[in-house]
Amino acid sequence: MDGDLINSTWKLLRRPVGMLQQGDLELVHEPVQPPAEGEVLVRTLYLSLDPTNRLWMSDTEQYLEPVGLGAPMRGVTLGIVEQSQAEKFPVGTLVIPHEGAWSRYQTLSATKIARLHLNADLPLSAYMSVIGPPGLTAYSGIVFVGEAQPGMTVTISAAAGAVGSVAGQIAKSRGCRVIGIAGGPEKCRWLVDELGFDAAIDYKSCNVAEELRRLCPDGIDLHFENVGGSILDAAIGNMRIGGCIALCGLISSYNSSGAVVGPSEFQLVLMRRIAIRGFLVMDFFKRAREAYAELEKLVLAGKLKWKDHIIDGLQNAPDAMNLLFSGRNEGKLMVKVSEV
Ligand SMILES: NC(=O)c1ccc[n+]([C@@H]2O[C@H](COP(=O)([O-])OP(=O)(O)OC[C@H]3O[C@@H](n4cnc5c(N)ncnc54)[C@H](OP(=O)(O)O)[C@@H]3O)[C@@H](O)[C@H]2O)c1
Repeated sequence: MDGDLINSTWKLLRRPVGMLQQGDLELVHEPVQPPAEGEVLVRTLYLSLDPTNRLWMSDTEQYLEPVGLGAPMRGVTLGIVEQSQAEKFPVGTLVIPHEGAWSRYQTLSATKIARLHLNADLPLSAYMSVIGPPGLTAYSGIVFVGEAQPGMTVTISAAAGAVGSVAGQIAKSRGCRVIGIAGGPEKCRWLVDELGFDAAIDYKSCNVAEELRRLCPDGIDLHFENVGGSILDAAIGNMRIGGCIALCGLISSYNSSGAVVGPSEFQLVLMRRIAIRGFLVMDFFKRAREAYAELEKLVLAGKLKWKDHIIDGLQNAPDAMNLLFSGRNEGKLMVKVSEV
């Protein structure tokens, strides 16, 4: 029966230069490998598209091994067990592979997947966004790294994105004053009118440093950085003495090759005794239960809103990924690979 099942997998053909181009990846069709004893065949339902995917395609120093040339592209996925040779995971179980791929099927050891505990009141896609890795990232940066306290002034770049929008709402739920930085009036309006941010700065039409100075006259207590470059400069220039920068991402440089110019205001890190702490979501997997419990509670109470941007079809994954770098994604970007 397995002979008829054909897999589709995006494999990395060459290291991209700049934005992902046609020909950097190739969609390969091969027969699926049937599961052996202790294995399952997982059919992908959702594939998360994340800025870090672009880093994995490069061979710059990073936190995981770069994806090898000719290898399946790595990605966070959510899937359903289609065939099982593992008692713990019967057919129909929803699972998250420890290492997913840009693939329609994966044959995996039962030791390399985790069961998804679904709350029937929530859409499946939420487990890829607000109560999935982006939510945990946002929570970790605001709560575990930034230790947000009531009354703090918190600023967030890429604030209308999957991580930023959740980070801002968590900070609000903890009594902070929150200012988002995002591209365009629509995103800024969403942050203030629908998510309850105190203010939003459109970095495409404003001088961010001046706006931060006006909105944070006593300085920023906690800055959640997703972008880097001139936005990070503007934040550093407006930090209060002893403030903290939770360094989550540097998306403005992920498409660059070679040296990236560092912060021009770096001396202020010394003068103002600013703590900058880079963090990765995987550092906080051990605290995920605590974070997801609070995120789910906020979501179910209607106090945490989010947007999922769902693209249909695995074949569209490479084109869709570029939306992250042009800002044309509206919330958490993911591909619906197949129906439940
Ligand atoms: N540390 C971790 O473990 C971890 C985990 C997940 C994500 N991250 C990081 O978090 C950040 C956000 O990721 P996400 O998944 O939530 O993506 P996202 O924010 O939903 O999408 C990316 C957004 O970044 C903004 N952007 C892209 N290029 C930019 C540029 N050159 N200058 C300014 N803004 C730019 C765009 O928003 P605008 O329209 O507002 O420009 C775009 O919509 C990324 O840096 C990512 O690497 C880190």
